[in-house]
Amino acid sequence: MRAGRGVLLTGASGYLGSLIATTLLLGEPDVRILAPVRPGHDPLALLATLRSELIASGAVAPEAMLERLSFTALPAFGSLAALLPELAAFGIEEVVHCAACLDYFDEAALQAINVGLTEELLALAGSAGVRRFTYVSTAFSSGYVDHRIGETLHGDPEGDPTDYTKTKRLAERRVAESGIAYLILRPSIVIGHSGDGRYSGKRYGLYQLWSGIERLLCREWHETIHAFAPRERINLIHQDAFQNAFLAGWQQLPDNSILNMVAAEACAPTVRDLWVLWLEAVNRPRQTVFYDRMADIPSRAIPPPQRALLALASVNLEIIGHPWRFDRAGLDRLIAAGVTFPEATLATIEICQNRLIDQSAAIEKFLAKHEQRFALAG
Ligand SMILES: NC(=O)c1ccc[n+]([C@@H]2O[C@H](COP(=O)([O-])OP(=O)(O)OC[C@H]3O[C@@H](n4cnc5c(N)ncnc54)[C@H](OP(=O)(O)O)[C@@H]3O)[C@@H](O)[C@H]2O)c1
Repeated sequence: MRAGRGVLLTGASGYLGSLIATTLLLGEPDVRILAPVRPGHDPLALLATLRSELIASGAVAPEAMLERLSFTALPAFGSLAALLPELAAFGIEEVVHCAACLDYFDEAALQAINVGLTEELLALAGSAGVRRFTYVSTAFSSGYVDHRIGETLHGDPEGDPTDYTKTKRLAERRVAESGIAYLILRPSIVIGHSGDGRYSGKRYGLYQLWSGIERLLCREWHETIHAFAPRERINLIHQDAFQNAFLAGWQQLPDNSILNMVAAEACAPTVRDLWVLWLEAVNRPRQTVFYDRMADIPSRAIPPPQRALLALASVNLEIIGHPWRFDRAGLDRLIAAGVTFPEATLATIEICQNRLIDQSAAIEKFLAKHEQRFALAG
């Protein structure tokens, strides 16, 4: 067995998984990571992502850090036990489970991956005698509830935004019932770095809306834009805040903790603030009509690209239109003990927005085409 602590990390090829990998490489010098990847994945591409994140985070010797990371092929469903000898040889002491299905509409895959794969990993972790199982869940795993969302396991809610939240809640229960010491982390919506706006994730959350506007509303200028923009605060956290809170929670929280990784309510902008920020930077319509409720939007009367945007983002818009209220006592304690948690304010979100705008050929073309109009409008 090699020196140092072995950690099995699933989902390292994804956004949060790659952030966790770099956090552990940077912040835990004696940790070695074993990352199972699905067949067809090129570990070299993943290494390149991790290398650039390490460099952007200020690592002076990224290659030496990456030597503490090993890849292995993820066996097919039902055959995870085949990894047992490798786990023993690697000296795996902890599991961090970050792999998941995020396709809101694929019920079967949500059940199979979010619940089924978690169950199988728990069985593997039990056989391997790991010390702790860390599960990356979501802040929205409670489903729609009227009360403040605590840092405890959830009961059955009135309803769920999607089967994604439902299956994440079921997976949390499996983790808690496994008999293995656990840590359940519940991030809200993760956006780019608070300092430079870099973001390597897929077009989820706010990025779905931004890239939807880029694709659908930047082909032509819209004199009037109809926006579903409730005055609810939207809970976003920066990737660096997520990384700092992950490391502190992983290092400091007692066994069987649940941590809501969420924004401080007072700092969070409203959905309307975010629309104004974007529209002033890019589309600059003569008039914007804001709606508090999706049902109030005259969807048949609005231009087809705006209707298409609503259809594309409707589920996420509906979710962010709900008044989510989170308890964040655990995170506040970590912050009080010295953890840096840059809140996502309008100013730091603008950094992420500007990064996306600067990298978009479609927006560059749109702004150039309408330069005169915008100059005249002041
Ligand atoms: N992004 C957010 O804002 C956010 C917020 C709250 C919670 N989360 C949670 O964070 C975790 C990661 O999300 P993400 O945003 O990083 O998503 P992502 O970029 O789509 O990554 C998902 C990861 O899961 C893996 N995966 C998917 N299906 C799998 C399967 N059948 N078997 C094994 N691995 C599979 C993917 O592997 P491949 O590369 O092979 O597809 C990828 O590594 C999830 O548990 C999600 O619920 C994310």
